Amino acid sequence: MPDFVLTEKERTQQDDRPDRTFYREPRLVQHVDEQFRERLTDLYREHLGAGDDVLDLMSSWVSHLPDELGLGRVAGHGMNEEELAANDRLAEYFVQDLNETPGLPLETGAFDAVLCAVSVQYLRHPGQVFAEVARVLRPGGILIVSFSNRMFAQKAIRAWRTASGPGRLQLVERYFESVEAFQKPTTVSENPFVPPTRRFMGGAPDPFYAAHARTQG
Ligand SMILES: C[S@@+](CC[C@H](N)C(=O)[O-])C[C@H]1O[C@@H](n2cnc3c(N)ncnc32)[C@H](O)[C@@H]1O
Repeated sequence: MPDFVLTEKERTQQDDRPDRTFYREPRLVQHVDEQFRERLTDLYREHLGAGDDVLDLMSSWVSHLPDELGLGRVAGHGMNEEELAANDRLAEYFVQDLNETPGLPLETGAFDAVLCAVSVQYLRHPGQVFAEVARVLRPGGILIVSFSNRMFAQKAIRAWRTASGPGRLQLVERYFESVEAFQKPTTVSENPFVPPTRRFMGGAPDPFYAAHARTQG
C-alpha cells in the first residue's frame, strides 16, 4: 500500500544505510530527562486502565509505564534485541525494521493501547505504520505518541529535522488524520520558559509534546 502522508523528499534520512546497522549495538541510556519521563508516565496513568493490553512500539530497555498499574498483555517492539530483553515491563517482544516492513505481525484488535515514545521521527512510512496500529487496536483503543526536541539527527526524516516543535506536532496530527479509523487527535505541548541564567547553569529541561487519539467505536 503506498504512503501518501509524506513526499519522497520529506522521508529522506541523512544516513541512508539500513536502520539495522545503526541499531546493531544496544544503547542502555535514557533518551530524555527525568522531568519528561515523569510527565509521560503521568500521561499514561491518565489514559491507560488496569488490565489493558498494551503494545510499546519502537521501544528499548524502558517503557515509561506506571509501576503501580497492573496491565494485561504487554508486548514490545524495537530494533535491538538486547535492549528489549532488558525491559522488564515486556512479557513478549519482536524486532522489526518498520522502514523496511511497516506491517505488524500481530492480530487485529488485540490491544487497548499502543505507545510510541520519542521515536516517531524515525518513521519513513508513518501513514502505513499508523494504519497498522489502528488495525491492531480494539475499537476505542488509544495510540499515544510522545516526543521532545532530541533525536539522532542522521536517522530522523527530513520533514522532522526541518520543523520546529509545533510543526512536528502538526506532522504527527497529519499522520493520525491520514487514517480514517482514528478520531481527531488531542495534542499536548509543554515547553516551559527557562530564564537564560538557568539555561547557562543547568541546561533547559526537555520540552514535552504528545499527540493521542482513539480509534472509532
Ligand atoms: C530514542 S529510542 C526510544 C526508545 C524508547 N521508546 C524510549 O522511550 O526510550 C528510538 C527507538 O526507535 C526505534 N526505531 C528507530 N528506527 C526504527 C525503525 N526503522 N524501525 C523500527 N523501530 C525503529 C528503536 O526501537 C529505537 O530504540
